[in-house]
Amino acid sequence: MSGNKTFTIIKPDAYEAAYSGPIIEKIESAGFKILNMRLERLDNPRAGKFYAVHKDKPFFERLCAYMCSGPIIVIELEKENAVEDFRKLIGATNPEDADEGTIRKLYAKSIEANAVHGSDSDENAQIEINFFFS
Ligand code: CMP
Repeated sequence: MSGNKTFTIIKPDAYEAAYSGPIIEKIESAGFKILNMRLERLDNPRAGKFYAVHKDKPFFERLCAYMCSGPIIVIELEKENAVEDFRKLIGATNPEDADEGTIRKLYAKSIEANAVHGSDSDENAQIEINFFFS
């Protein structure tokens, strides 16, 4: 059975471009309930810890630097089938591949500055929620 919680980050590019409002509106319109939300500023060690699963990838250092480049908004969300439905709502990691109408198609600049993060499994959703909200 799939879980009912997921976690998202509005990333520095989307925050800076004043897309937080439209993105949150889209999330709520899609039936997600906000359980927790906070403006946050990451430092490099904390960004590295959050993205530790990518530590051997060639883009890891740039990703961490980028995630520290400005404020982010961290959000815990609730909905039936949350992880899968949220990933559909945001679209593919690379906005060039994202479907029309998805958050990344509408608001992302590039594969790195891709507007939002979304948990990729129920297990990771809980880990990511605990990372910011406990
Ligand atoms: P996110 O959903 O936050 O999870 C990991 C992030 O790494 C991803 O979104 C992208 O921002 C980033 N990422 C994934 N693949 C690449 C890539 N090939 N080049 C640069 N950044 C990437």
